[in-house]
Amino acid sequence: MSTKSVRVAITGAAGQIGYAILFRIASGQMFGPDTAVHLNLLELEVALPALEGVKMELDDCAFPLLQSITTTSDANVAFKDVDWALLIGAFPRKAGMERKDLLEKNAGIFTGQGKAINDNAKNTCKVLVVGNPCNTNAYIAKSMAPNIPARNFFAMTMLDQNRAVTQLAQKANAHNTDVSNVTIWGNHSSTQYPDFYNATISGKPVTESISDEEWLKGDFIKTVQQRGAAIIKARGLSSAASAANAAVDTVRNLVTPTPEGKHFSVAVCSDGSYGIPEGLMFGYPVRSNGEEWEIVQGISHNEFAQEKIAATTKELSEERDAVQHLLT
Ligand code: NAD
Ligand code: LMR
Repeated sequence: MSTKSVRVAITGAAGQIGYAILFRIASGQMFGPDTAVHLNLLELEVALPALEGVKMELDDCAFPLLQSITTTSDANVAFKDVDWALLIGAFPRKAGMERKDLLEKNAGIFTGQGKAINDNAKNTCKVLVVGNPCNTNAYIAKSMAPNIPARNFFAMTMLDQNRAVTQLAQKANAHNTDVSNVTIWGNHSSTQYPDFYNATISGKPVTESISDEEWLKGDFIKTVQQRGAAIIKARGLSSAASAANAAVDTVRNLVTPTPEGKHFSVAVCSDGSYGIPEGLMFGYPVRSNGEEWEIVQGISHNEFAQEKIAATTKELSEERDAVQHLLT
C-alpha cells in the first residue's frame, strides 16, 4: 500500500480529454507507481450524468492506486484541498477558428475557477491549464489566485513539443528518443516558435542531421504551428488522446528530476527571462528537480529566432491586454 497520496482536480472530466486522461492518472502514469490518487472531477451540471458513467468505468478498472472519486458541478468542492488542478474544461475551437477566438467564450471559466482555487486549494497547489487559449487562461487563473504562488501556474506547450519531436525524427530517419531539447517558445498558438536550432538529434545539432534549413524554417515550423487545426480538419474534433498524453508528460516532467543536460517545454509565469514581459505565461525551456523548476538560461537566438519570439510575445501581450478588464 502506497504511503504518498495526491489529490487532483480535473475540470471538464466528462469531455474528450477528460475521458483520455483520467484512466492514465488513476493507473499511476502521471504521479508514479508509488503515489495513491484521489480524483476530484468537475463538470457542468448538464454533464454530470455522463460523468457518473465515467466514474463507473474508473471503478470497473479496480486501479490499485485510486483511493477516491468525487464528482461535482461545484468548483468549491472540486478544488477543496487539492495538490494539483488540471484545468481542461473549456470549449474547443472549430474549423476555421484560431485558439484566441475562444478567449471571450472561455475566459469567464478561468476567472471563476482561479478564485475557487484561491479559496479552496492547498496554497502549495499546482495548476496546469489545458483549456484554450491555455496561456492566457492560465494568466487569468493566476491573476485571480493571489494566495497561490504565480510559479505554481503552468500552461501546456508539451503537445507542441511532442509534435515537433516526431516531425524532426521522421525527417532525419531517426527515432523520437534520439531528439532532445526541442523548446516551444511563447504561445500555444499559430505564433509559437518551435526552436530547432537549439535542439539535438543523437546529441548533435538538428541542422547536422537535417541539412534542409529551408524545410526547418518553413514547413517544419508551420506543420507544428498548424497541427491542431489539421487534426480538427481530419477528425472533426480537436486532439484529445495526444493532448491527454501531453498533460501526463507535463506533470511527470515537473514532478521528476530532469536528466542532466535536458529540458522540456512548458509555459510558466515570465520573470523577465529572455526579455519577455514579466507576468506573461510564456513557453520556455524548463528543468525540474522534482520539487522546484527553473527556466533554462543562456540559450542563444539568431535573428530568425528573435523575430519569431517577438511575434509570439506580441500576441500574448495582446491577449493579456484583452482580458485585463476581467481581472478585478
Ligand atoms: P470537450 O468539449 O470534449 O470537453 C470539455 C468539457 O468541459 C465538456 O464536458 C464540458 O461540459 C466541460 N466544461 C465546460 N465548461 C466547464 C466548466 N466551467 N467547468 C467544468 N467543466 C466544464 O473538449 P476537449 O476536447 O476535452 O477540450 C477541452 C479544452 O482543451 C478545449 O478548450 C480545447 O481547445 C483544449 N485543448 C488544449 C490543448 C493544448 O495543447 N493546450 C490540446 C487539446 C485541446
Ligand atoms: C491542439 O493543439 O490540438 C489543441 O490546442 C486544439 C486546437 O484547437 O488546436
